[in-house]
Amino acid sequence: MDRGLAELWTLSITEDAVTRASSLLDEAEQCRASRFLAEAPRAAFVATRGALRQLCATYLNADPKQLHFAVNEHGKPFLPGSGLEFNVSHSGKVAVLGFAWQQPIGVDVERTGRKGDIRRIASRFFHPGETAAIEAAADPVQAFYRCWTGKEAYVKAVGLGLSLGLDTFRVAVEGEACVTGDTSWSLYSWAPAAGYMATAAVHGPVAFFQRGDDIFTGSST
Ligand SMILES: CC(C)(COP(=O)(O)OP(=O)(O)OC[C@H]1O[C@@H](n2cnc3c(N)ncnc32)[C@H](O)[C@@H]1OP(=O)(O)O)[C@@H](O)C(=O)NCCC(=O)NCCS
Repeated sequence: MDRGLAELWTLSITEDAVTRASSLLDEAEQCRASRFLAEAPRAAFVATRGALRQLCATYLNADPKQLHFAVNEHGKPFLPGSGLEFNVSHSGKVAVLGFAWQQPIGVDVERTGRKGDIRRIASRFFHPGETAAIEAAADPVQAFYRCWTGKEAYVKAVGLGLSLGLDTFRVAVEGEACVTGDTSWSLYSWAPAAGYMATAAVHGPVAFFQRGDDIFTGSST
């Protein structure tokens, strides 16, 4: 993978993925997994973290079990000194994982089934300009999820999480994905599976490349 390219992977959170992933986790991750009270979030964490280890190891030509993740003060995992930038997101039975070289990246995936509370969420969390654009959009539900995943991807790329107020910046809700008024960010929205919407945000110019669902069996080079 070259600089100027961002690779986006989709993972189906299946029993098989959880089994393959769990053997790659370190002791702290196994411990974190055992603390989940419910099975679904535990499976999502285990499968996604294992997939993250597998893909980082492939990009870095390393052993997936020997990687030592650090986290920034807002909880964003990174691999110190590697130059590999990455981020993951999971929702329901789908995870997305994004990778780039030396260009900060954030990804977010959401299940698009939510109907009733779209307006409430938009008016509570989004910039007023985004709320108005969603109302006026040809497909307000689609526009809402483009906006939501775009905003989450951006705050995750920056690494600040929700300490960066979601109403302090705007993303496009229709047309080409972008951070409104800031061309230093590249955004890309896609449907990783039926009923899901995802967006990736990368700092700097980048071409986005969607990879498959062969994380534990294929090669990323
Ligand atoms: C933690 C946060 C960064 C993402 O949380 P989330 O949307 O619940 O979770 P996602 O599945 O998208 O991402 C989780 C992954 O992001 C990574 N992550 C954690 N903190 C992060 C940070 N500050 N920046 C970037 N990535 C981060 C981790 O790898 C984490 O995976 P793990 O929990 O399996 O280790 C934060 O933005 C948050 O709490 N979001 C909730 C937002 C919300 O309520 N929005 C309302 C409507 S817009």
